[in-house]
Formats: sequence, C-alpha cells, structure tokens
Amino acid sequence: MPKAIFNFPNGFLWGTATSAHQVEGGNTNNDWWEWEQQEGHILNGDKSGRACDWWAGRWREDFDRAHETYQNAHRLSIEWSRIQPEPDRWDESALDHYRQMLLGLKERGMMAMVTLHHFTNPLWLMASGGWENPATPALFAEYVRRVVQALQSHCQMWVTINEPNVYATGAYLGGGFPPGKNDQKIAMHVLANLLRGHALAYQAIHELQPEAQVGVAHHWRGFIPGDWNPLSRFVARTYDRVFNEAFAQGLRTGRFDALSIREEIPEAKGTQDYLGLNYYTRDYLKFDLRRRDEQYSQRYFPQGARLSENGFIANDPAGLEDGLRWALSFGLPVYITENGAEDSEDSFRRQYLAEHIHRLWHLVNFNAPIKGYFHWSLVDNFEWERGWSQRFGLWGLDPASQLRTRRPSVDFYAEICRSNSLSSEMIAKYAPGSFERILPGA
Ligand code: BGC
Repeated sequence: MPKAIFNFPNGFLWGTATSAHQVEGGNTNNDWWEWEQQEGHILNGDKSGRACDWWAGRWREDFDRAHETYQNAHRLSIEWSRIQPEPDRWDESALDHYRQMLLGLKERGMMAMVTLHHFTNPLWLMASGGWENPATPALFAEYVRRVVQALQSHCQMWVTINEPNVYATGAYLGGGFPPGKNDQKIAMHVLANLLRGHALAYQAIHELQPEAQVGVAHHWRGFIPGDWNPLSRFVARTYDRVFNEAFAQGLRTGRFDALSIREEIPEAKGTQDYLGLNYYTRDYLKFDLRRRDEQYSQRYFPQGARLSENGFIANDPAGLEDGLRWALSFGLPVYITENGAEDSEDSFRRQYLAEHIHRLWHLVNFNAPIKGYFHWSLVDNFEWERGWSQRFGLWGLDPASQLRTRRPSVDFYAEICRSNSLSSEMIAKYAPGSFERILPGA
C-alpha cells in the first residue's frame, strides 16, 4: 500500500461550524421559533426546543470535544434577538454569555470566527417587514456595532451574514423559511438589502476594530446544464448569475445585478477582507416548460451519483474545486466556512470528508491562499425546515436525552486536525471506499 501524505501549511485552521438557533435552544424571541410552533412548517412537526442545549451551558462540553480532537478553530453565531430583545433594549447579560463562550474558545486555544446573522431575525424586526424594510440594514449595523464593542477583544474574524442567497430564496422564494413568501421580486429586493446591511456592518466593524477580518459566508452551488439544449444552458447560467454571483459581484463592483433587479450599491464595493465559502454539492439542470415555479427547470443529481442519507447532497468533490476556484478569483484569502453532509450512519460522511479534503489539498498544494476548513457540523443540530431528520454532526445527538455519540468521523477528523494532513493510511482506515478514487491504480 502506498504511503501518501497530503500536508497542509502551518497555521491552517481546522474547525467545525455551528449557528446559534441550531444549537442554543430556547430562542423563543425570533422568527424561526414562531415558525416552528405553527403546524406544517417543519418536517414531522419537529421543533428546535433545547437544540444542543448550549445556552444552558453545554457549549462547554462540546468545545471540550472539539478541543480534545485537535480542532484549533470554531465558527459560531450570535443570536440578534437575544442581544436586542426589543428595538430599544439591549441585553448585557446575553452579550456576557457570548463573551464567556469566546473566552472558552480562547482558553482551549481555539480561534473564534463569529457570524452575526445566520438566518434568524428578532420578532420585532419581522413585525416591521424584516429585510424587506429599507430601514433594516441600518438596524442590523447598529446591532453589529454593539456586538463588536462588547466582544472585540475576543474575536477578530467576523462573518456578517451567512448565505444571503439561501436566506433570500429560502424565506422569499418558497424555500420553507419564515416568513414563507414566494415572490421573485421581493426575494431579490431582500438580497439587495442584505448587501446594504453587510456593507454598513463592514464599515461599523472596521471603525471599531481596524484590524478585523470581515467577510460573508457565501453558499456556492455549481449549476451544470444536464443536456445540450441551449435553454438548459440558459437556465443553468441564470441560476448561477442570480444565486452565486449577484451578491458576491455586488461586493466586488458596488453594482447589484440579479437580472430582474439592478441597483447601484456603491458602499458595498470592496467590503470583503476574505471570502467564506460554504460548499455542499452541485446540481444538474434541464429546461422544463412545465416547472414554472422552479424557473422552468428540473434540478437533479446525475444517475449513479453517490447520495447522502436523505438524498440531499451528492458526493461531488470536483464541485468543491470549482467553488474554490470561483472563490479564489476574488483575489482574497479563502476559508471554507461550511462543508459536510447528513448521515446518521456515518459511512457516506467519511468518504465525503476524505474526498473533499483531498480536493482542497490539491489547491492548497499549489499555494492557493486557502486558510482554513470548518466542517458542518460539530454535533447534530436543528436542521431548519428539515427539523431533526438530518444529522450533520461529527457527534450524534439525541435531543431528548442530550446524549452525544462519538461517530467514527470524529476520530478521522481528529487525525486530520492533529497531523495537519490527510494520509493514505487514514483513508484506508476510515474511508476505504474512497481509496481508489483518491489514489487510482495504487
Ligand atoms: C446552512 C446551515 C445548515 C447547512 C445544512 C447551510 O446552508 O448555513 O445552517 O445547517 O446548510 O443544511
């Protein structure tokens, strides 16, 4: 058996990513909590409930797990509705709670990356129109200012907004997020307002903390025409322009171009210090006149694709390389801010992990400025409109008993983090099914 070692540079960040609503529990003051209480919104009627019980203190034991398995970084998010429970009330004790968590990371020698908006919004904000309201970007920046003032001595890396494209389409283009609208114009208007909010937040953070690194976690998804029909190419290109490019190009040029809406947002230009990439999979598309609601296209994974437990993700590491090349084209340092798959059995995950880390290494090995990898996620958590039906954790979780189970991926990822490398021995041990794909003919 060949001995191959794929090394990563010194100082590479290896961590996992989480988000407040998905892990904290008891986030009763935001739009998701309310959404979960209404019938028919969440698969099987699931609720976030106590989630992973982090707000009650279990973040300590989970940070211990991450630390003991050699992760040197963690990406977490702050819940706006806790910091600003009402328009004119700021909760210092909530800020202190997050301060303790960031100190907890520091004590464990782990770098913190903090997301300021990860899908959820305070109820009071939604009552006045949420991100449809032109006043919201400034309100967001005010909240961000408070957070950065309080926490800047414990964090330098900020993600203003997680996946603006997923939020805008999830909430306003029939994607199953609150407020559950389905209107393309509104969705693109919301995306433009998120860009404005990001730009204001970027300026606020840099005013307070000039050395901060501020970025966005972009969800990039490959869209590949499934046949030679020029209309299939057209729909793939349209998806790409609206979903992948509109927000990101707005950061580059100060111009927001989502086809149906074009706006000048000059304050957004150049407001990105690094690029965060969330990559899960790629889609194939064919033009289909009958599917008006899906922009006249059928989206699918190709026959023979290796699919995750719920068929949600195809194991497509070539897509990660495409996504990284796209990210690198911005000329900034890149972090993989999310990558992972749902798999309670933990066999698909190990192959997915091996093959994606190997692809990542390809680019890193040619000195691409990719600085870190955050696996989604540390422990099973509340998967939005899919409830508890999808298990993305390295550790499994029984939300009722709060018992964690150590999946084999924990040890696989720990070996990667500890040695700062992926080796043929690890692949043979944890993901033998990927061996031939990574080292063909060996
Ligand atoms: C989101 C996460 C989510 C993950 C898996 C990403 O789009 O940022 O919150 O849990 O996908 O579905």
